Amino acid sequence: MLGIWIDILVLLVLLPPSSASNGSGHSLWLLSTYIQGETQFPEFSYTTTLDDITVGYYKSGTYFPRGNTTNEDDVVNSDYIRGISDYMYHSFLRRAALLRQDGQNDSLDVYQTLVVCEMLDLNNSGKMLTKDAARGCTTDEICYFNNTFTYKVILNISQDVLKPHLEEFKLKYMKFYQPVCISTLKYYLKKRQNEVNRKAAPKIRFVQKANSDSGGSPVSCLATGFYPRHINLTLFRDGQPVSDHEITGGDLLPNGDGTYQMRKSLEISADKHKYSCSVTHLSLDNKLIIELGNESSE
Ligand SMILES: *[C@@H]1O[C@H](CO)[C@@H](O)[C@H](O)[C@H]1NC(C)=O
Ligand SMILES: *[C@@H]1O[C@H](CO)[C@@H](O)[C@H](O)[C@H]1NC(C)=O
Ligand SMILES: *[C@@H]1O[C@H](CO)[C@@H](O)[C@H](O)[C@H]1NC(C)=O
Ligand SMILES: *[C@@H]1O[C@H](CO)[C@@H](O)[C@H](O)[C@H]1NC(C)=O
Ligand SMILES: *[C@@H]1O[C@H](CO)[C@@H](O)[C@H](O)[C@H]1NC(C)=O
Ligand SMILES: *[C@@H]1O[C@H](CO)[C@@H](O)[C@H](O)[C@H]1NC(C)=O
Ligand SMILES: *[C@@H]1O[C@H](CO)[C@@H](O)[C@H](O)[C@H]1NC(C)=O
Ligand SMILES: *[C@@H]1O[C@H](CO)[C@@H](O)[C@H](O)[C@H]1NC(C)=O
Repeated sequence: MLGIWIDILVLLVLLPPSSASNGSGHSLWLLSTYIQGETQFPEFSYTTTLDDITVGYYKSGTYFPRGNTTNEDDVVNSDYIRGISDYMYHSFLRRAALLRQDGQNDSLDVYQTLVVCEMLDLNNSGKMLTKDAARGCTTDEICYFNNTFTYKVILNISQDVLKPHLEEFKLKYMKFYQPVCISTLKYYLKKRQNEVNRKAAPKIRFVQKANSDSGGSPVSCLATGFYPRHINLTLFRDGQPVSDHEITGGDLLPNGDGTYQMRKSLEISADKHKYSCSVTHLSLDNKLIIELGNESSE
């Protein structure tokens, strides 16, 4: 039981933001966790990230700005931190109480909230998203964009119970959370501009492995060491893109140094087709095309 929840916890915490910063839009993420029950983890904690760079965390009543070499104590106003922490903590308590009414009563419960704000242009126009989860499942989502709220409530609780919370939340969102999130995002973007805007080109290897147990011989294209995370990696057979269902892999994985890697593989039998791997990335002026058997120099 305990193991399952810890796995979920670690998984969610380590999961890189999936739709962060398309093109120019940067985003600030706050993932908070509340645990009811006896564990080695703090009862209430959160982590803040700028795109995919961790910039701070909150644990046992204190916020730790995670500066690199610079002092970032001034990035977030301590009153904001207190206000946000208090609000989140109390909303966790309310949610936990609501869910307990459902008669579900585990000895260990994990609740999480993800808050993301994304800057769409320089006029402070932004999108803000909140996602709540209980015991590893999403319960509700709120999106605020262009002065409009959209809700998705997955949790099966009555609207009468939910509505007052939403109305209160809406007001706080517009007047406090959204402006604070955007201004914090701006500050961090300025402070961390070198890190956020850095570009690292992928190193690419396109190789054919020895025959596998199944008799085929897989070819595999690996791109690694790139930043930012967005990359297009496509396998071609005789100049035509190979269809997705023939391909395995394609997951974006983090390297230890803040860069990413992606691998796509394909089982081929002895055939006369020509295979190539094509990569486009922000760091590359042109599409890189590697023929099977040819290693990239860089
Ligand atoms: C970013 O991309 C994801 C998927 O590619 C999409 O779901 C999301 O709406 C995009 N966000 C913006 C602001 O365009
Ligand atoms: C820390 O900051 C320095 C200069 O601001 C930069 O060169 C270096 O790459 C940064 N290190 C990390 C791990 O972000
Ligand atoms: C629910 O939790 C309370 C307090 O922890 C406990 O006293 C009660 O026995 C539990 N009920 C069920 C049905 O497990
Ligand atoms: C920003 O606001 C100014 C004045 O309100 C407007 O002229 C401009 O078009 C806006 N820019 C964007 C990108 O929305
Ligand atoms: C924002 O809302 C206004 C009016 O509510 C609408 O006219 C406009 O098209 C919306 N803009 C976007 C980008 O959805
Ligand atoms: C939601 O709750 C209502 C009554 O509270 C119940 O009748 C309904 O079956 C529930 N739906 C789901 C999907 O659990
Ligand atoms: C990947 O391909 C899509 C669609 O062609 C394009 O919009 C996007 O900019 C490409 N991304 C990169 C990093 O090249
Ligand atoms: C490998 O690259 C070299 C130089 O770019 C080229 O002459 C050669 O034909 C390529 N070989 C294969 C198998 O693609």
